[in-house]
Amino acid sequence: RSSHRPVLQPGLPANRTAAPGGDAEFRCKVHGEARPHVQWLRHVEVNGSRHGPDGSPYVRVLKTSGDNSTDEEMEVLYLRNVTFDDAGEYTCLAGNSIGTSHQSAWLVVIAAERPESKAALAAPDFLQIGVYCTAGLLATTAAVAASCRVRNAPEQTPPVGNEPRLCRLSRDIVLQRQVSLESADSANSRLPLLLLGRRFSSADSPRLPGVCESELPPDARWEFPRGRLRLGAPLGEGCFGRVVTAEALGIDQEQPGRSVRVAVKMLKDNATDKELSDLVSELELMKSVAKHRNIIGLLGACTQGGPLLVIVELAAKGNLRDFLRARRPPVTESACDGAGARGERPAARELVSFARQVARGMEWLASNKCIHRDLAARNVLVADGNVMKIADFGLARDVNHSEYYKKTSSGLLPVKWMSPESLFDRVYTQRSDVWSFGVLLWEMFTLGGSPYPGVPVEELFRLLQEGHRLDRPPLCPAEL
Ligand code: ADE
Repeated sequence: RSSHRPVLQPGLPANRTAAPGGDAEFRCKVHGEARPHVQWLRHVEVNGSRHGPDGSPYVRVLKTSGDNSTDEEMEVLYLRNVTFDDAGEYTCLAGNSIGTSHQSAWLVVIAAERPESKAALAAPDFLQIGVYCTAGLLATTAAVAASCRVRNAPEQTPPVGNEPRLCRLSRDIVLQRQVSLESADSANSRLPLLLLGRRFSSADSPRLPGVCESELPPDARWEFPRGRLRLGAPLGEGCFGRVVTAEALGIDQEQPGRSVRVAVKMLKDNATDKELSDLVSELELMKSVAKHRNIIGLLGACTQGGPLLVIVELAAKGNLRDFLRARRPPVTESACDGAGARGERPAARELVSFARQVARGMEWLASNKCIHRDLAARNVLVADGNVMKIADFGLARDVNHSEYYKKTSSGLLPVKWMSPESLFDRVYTQRSDVWSFGVLLWEMFTLGGSPYPGVPVEELFRLLQEGHRLDRPPLCPAEL
C-alpha cells in the first residue's frame, strides 16, 4: 500500500435541488489511511467576482472537522430552510500530509410547483436545471484543474461574528486530476471533430434523422457510395446506436466487382447531437489509426445524403467474452443438451495466443497515441481464424462520475476494468490500459468470467484501496 492523499468517493457530493424553505444535504465519503482533515466550502462572489486574480475560486468555509467531530458528522453537509441565496456550488475538501482532494456539486433552488401552473412551470425549471448543470460541469472542471489549499491570505474577508471565514483557494497545489497529459492528448485528437461543419447547439437536443448528417464535410479518402451498401442482420445494439452486417460492393479497391461482408455502425432515431458528435469523433479517430491485424479497421463511411454510416471490418465470431463463454465445458450431463452449439474449450496455449494478439493490438494503438480506456473482452472481437481484433477504441468515453454505476447490456460494471488512478483520479494512460489488460487476461483464463462478481461499486473502491486483487484463475499458468 502506498501513501496517498485522501480519495473521495466518485459521484459525491451529488447535485441537489430544493424548494425555498426546504432542506438539502450533500454527502462526501472520504477514504484515506490517516484520518484526513475535511472541510465543506461554499463558493461565493467577492465584489461581483467568483474568482481571484489568479483564477482560483472564492470560497467560504461552512464546516471543518475538529477533534470532537466524527467522520459521520463530516460526511454530511445539511442545509436547512434554504433560500434562493443558497443556490450555488459546494465543495468537499479533504487533506492529509500527502495532499488534498476535492469534489463539488451544485444546489439548485427552485420554487415549489403550484399544481395549477404545472405545465407553465415545467419548461423554465428544466431550463434552469440545464443551465446549472452545464455551469456546474464547467465550474467543476475548472475548479479541479485549479488549486485546492485553503490559504489564510491577507486579502481574505475577515470573520464577522459567527460568519464563516471567507477564504480563497490558492494555486499552490495544482491538481491535474481529471486528465493526464496522455489522456489529454487522446482527448485533444478528438476535439476538432466537434467543430466539423455542425452547430452543436445543445448536446441533448434531439437529432432530425437524415437531415443534420449532410452537413458533414465529405472526405473523398473514405466516402463510400450509399447505393453500393446492402444492410443486413443486426449484430448488436446499444441505447442510441446499432451495428448491422452489410454487403459492400467494391469496397476493396483491388476487386471493384466483389461484394465484401462488413459491419456498419449507425445511430438510432432517438440519438441526440451528442451521440452524433461521438460517432463522428469515433470515425475521425479510426481514420487516424493505421491498419493493424489486431484492431478493427475502418473501411469507409457514408456521410452524405443520409444518416451517418461507419463501415468497419466484420469479425464473424462476435465478441471475445461470448466466444469464451460458449466454449466453457458443460457443468452437468443434462447441460450437454445444448453441447452442439458449444465450441471446444480453448487450450491454455490458445488463450496465450489470444492474449498476445490483444497485446499486439494495444501496442499498436499506443504507438498511434491512442488510449483505449475501456479494454475488456466485450470490446475485443473475434474474426475468422480466431484473429483477435480490438474494437471501440475510438469511442468517446464519458468520464463523468455518474457513469460509474452504469452497467453494460450484459449487466457488467465497466468500472471493474478501471485502474485505481482512472477510478479515483480520472487519469487514463497507456498504463491504465495495461491494468485493464490484466483484467482482460483474467477474463480469458476464466473463459469469460465476471471480475469481482457481486461486488458493488463502493465495495470495489474499498477492496482496491486495501490492496485486494483478482485471484489467479486455475487455468492461468503462474508465469502469466
Ligand atoms: N459487433 C460490433 N461490431 C462488430 C464487428 N465489427 N463485427 C462483428 N460484430 C460486431
